[in-house]
Amino acid sequence: MSKVIEKIKEEEDVEKEVKKKRKKSFQTVRGMRDILPKDQPYWQKLRKVIEKTASDYNYDRIDMPVLESREMFERGTGKTTDIVEKEMFKFKTKGGDDVCLRPEGTPSAVRAYLQHGMQSKQKPAKLFYSGQMYRYDRPQEGRYREFFQFGFEAIGEQDAILDAQLIQLAVRVFQSVGLKNISLQLNSIGCKECRPKYNKLLVSYFNNRKKALCMDCKKRLKKNPLRILDCKEEKCIQVVFQAPQTVDHLCDNCRSHFTMLLESLDEIDIPYVINPQLVRGLDYYSKTVFEFFPECGEDETQSALGGGGRYDYLVENLGGPETPGVGFACGMDRIVLEMMKQNTKPYIAPTPKVYMVQLGDLAKKKSLRIFDDLERSGVMVAESFGKKNLKSQLRLANQKKVSIVLILGQREALDETVILKDMESGSQEVITFKKIVEEVKKRLKKSAEIASKKAKKEQEARKKLKKA
Ligand code: HAM
Repeated sequence: MSKVIEKIKEEEDVEKEVKKKRKKSFQTVRGMRDILPKDQPYWQKLRKVIEKTASDYNYDRIDMPVLESREMFERGTGKTTDIVEKEMFKFKTKGGDDVCLRPEGTPSAVRAYLQHGMQSKQKPAKLFYSGQMYRYDRPQEGRYREFFQFGFEAIGEQDAILDAQLIQLAVRVFQSVGLKNISLQLNSIGCKECRPKYNKLLVSYFNNRKKALCMDCKKRLKKNPLRILDCKEEKCIQVVFQAPQTVDHLCDNCRSHFTMLLESLDEIDIPYVINPQLVRGLDYYSKTVFEFFPECGEDETQSALGGGGRYDYLVENLGGPETPGVGFACGMDRIVLEMMKQNTKPYIAPTPKVYMVQLGDLAKKKSLRIFDDLERSGVMVAESFGKKNLKSQLRLANQKKVSIVLILGQREALDETVILKDMESGSQEVITFKKIVEEVKKRLKKSAEIASKKAKKEQEARKKLKKA
């Protein structure tokens, strides 16, 4: 073996040894994601819009645990739904409790409503939440095993005007984050009175065409025939096309409820499409069901941004008195993806106008106090306390386009003074520690006034130019 090859082999062996010794590094678990700082401005915008809309429509925030009773979702969402049967992360605790990671928020909101006696307070209870949900689904774009939802629930009112108002609220959220071309599909799936009759019709229709259904739908025919209507299998879609439609078999009460909803939506100019196949994949719905979709290309599969409906029997099902309810939830991950796709404006965080430069250990320690004093009085300050070099700190200050730089060297630290450099005029002044906050605030106010005057002048000039 030539000396060169021998050397290469030696090096490779060393590399292998090093790799072996290096500790295993980790990645996120399949279906889980990190939401990185670069994407946060979109999330921040969405969160702010949700909070603002909730306050405008008088909904109170509720935070519910991620870990809940498994039985609650079996009874609430439905034992035979895909979410509960196939997608739930369920396990036993060390103490033997049957629990799961919540796959959705509605049963939890109803549990909280009952557990905390909200039924004795003002009706309807108007609650909103946001947070992680978990479904063991096949991960792909817009479909994750851990995803974020925000949801709004109005518990204790059966008037269709609430259904309309919730749809209006959801539309407001989409518009406020800058989304365009979001379509609304809706349907009414009846109540305890008319649904059993309709189900019978449906079963008889599908029984005559059983061979043409997929395996899942053959099972659904026995357990939950309504769900066949929204099966995505091509062969089932063909059969469903001719199936009896829920809206043609509603009782008087459900029909007038649905009419009221449609008329209310017409009144507030919210366009909709009635989709007779829309039944939603959760068992608790009655009467109204709806979903929101973004516009998508022909080769893309349509994923709902959100959906909801009425659940007039859920409270009773979870152990409470007969109480109607209506709500919706949206996938925040999907909304953010759509915001990026549609090039909407993300949230722009305010940036610091002051930069703190320090030289030497004593100055560094004293800088911490000045930083804290300024922040407490509402002045945002940028710094790079880990850096020692004056030049590199000033370069960073320049990059951040601050209007004031505070320089604290060894001498200043001993004298309890700081050099204030005005970045616009270039002038420098020595200020005592005691006066820093006052002086900085005064100067920032002045420079904000100058900036606003300048902006006004520019705007006027632009207007004149346009007129000319
Ligand atoms: P849902 O239709 O199951 O309804 O979920 C609502 C939204 O959550 C969906 O439209 C979708 O945007 C998002 N979503 C669902 N699964 C995933 C996933 N694996 N990855 C990313 N996003 C997902 C509910 O959850 C009901 N609780 C809605 C409701 C509230 N009904 C009445 N009140």
